Amino acid sequence: MNILGIESSCDETSASVVRDGRSISSLVIASQTDIHAQHHGVVPELASRAHVEQIGPVVEAALKEADCSWDDIDAIAASNRPGLSGSLAVGLSFAKGSALALSKPFVAVDHIMAHAWAAQLVEDIPYPYLVLLVSGGHTLLAEIHAPTDLEVIGATIDDACGEAFDKVSAYLGTGYPGGPAIDRLATTGNAEAYAFPMPNLKGRTGRYDFSYSGLKTAVVHQRERFRRTSATDAPETVEDIAAAFQKTAIDQLLDRLERALDERPNPAIAIGGGVASNSELRRRIDACAHRRGTRAIIPPPRLCVDNGAMVAGLAWSVLEVQGPSPLDTGVSARVPAFRGRFENHRRGT
Ligand code: KG4
Ligand code: ZN
Repeated sequence: MNILGIESSCDETSASVVRDGRSISSLVIASQTDIHAQHHGVVPELASRAHVEQIGPVVEAALKEADCSWDDIDAIAASNRPGLSGSLAVGLSFAKGSALALSKPFVAVDHIMAHAWAAQLVEDIPYPYLVLLVSGGHTLLAEIHAPTDLEVIGATIDDACGEAFDKVSAYLGTGYPGGPAIDRLATTGNAEAYAFPMPNLKGRTGRYDFSYSGLKTAVVHQRERFRRTSATDAPETVEDIAAAFQKTAIDQLLDRLERALDERPNPAIAIGGGVASNSELRRRIDACAHRRGTRAIIPPPRLCVDNGAMVAGLAWSVLEVQGPSPLDTGVSARVPAFRGRFENHRRGT
């Protein structure tokens, strides 16, 4: 069965054809980075307009790359939550319109659940397993029990990890998106040059929760302190700040992950989301898995960022478990309760 998957939740327009929920026949991702770079962040109105322009050509390119015509497509899927409403609406409307016109099943997919599941496109991972999902909008730790059954055990209480990379990079003037810029700078910096604090969340929140707003502030204070005392201090470099910030950001992710491995032993860990492209995070997840005797599934970056393949792949299971989605399914910017166990989607949620 060939499923066409469409992803448009933020600033990437993507379409992909996946066979039987496993085999990627095509994957096209049109990034809007150039459009948003001049604003140092995603501008929702510009994002939706760009999706409107891109969606047709991107879907056509995905069909062509898969060597498929519309007749070869058995179902059409799109993410409907969470994300920017205007952006989600473009992909969702396109998928619903095509499904209606062609009399094919339509499937609405939760985009976070798709990120969590995406590592299954790399290899068959037995359930359950732990997933660390780190992007510009989300930072969460989850146990995935089945393709459509995700248990979120920790989430950020303020900024997302990728958001902190972007804000620190904007502050340092090193460009947008911040993650790749910091990743690059950090390779020549000294991560021990500064000791940025880890958040102390004891008693205030869940055992596996994250917080990133304090780290960003600590970077700003460090820089200001240096400027005041630069006559006597050793020279500060942007590379050192980037390396120390990145190390502390990743320390926190690993701290929660190690705790989860202690308390909920799982045979495998997977990562996803844009920050999962970070070279240091990938290295440390791999080392952690080695040390703990678990397996790490680290997807290639194009399966970590927003992409249509994870939508098409998960849609195959959703179709099997829940059947097609109604054509009156709408978009939802947020997921109602981002804690505990939730299924792909139900009517009205
Ligand atoms: O998953 P994604 O493409 O979009 C959503 O937020 O849904 O993630 C984008 C985020 C941005 O914050 C970007 O700075 C970050 O992922 N990112 C990275 C790297 N590449 C992208 N963060 C750290 N290191 C990277 N190499
Ligand atoms: Zn995403």
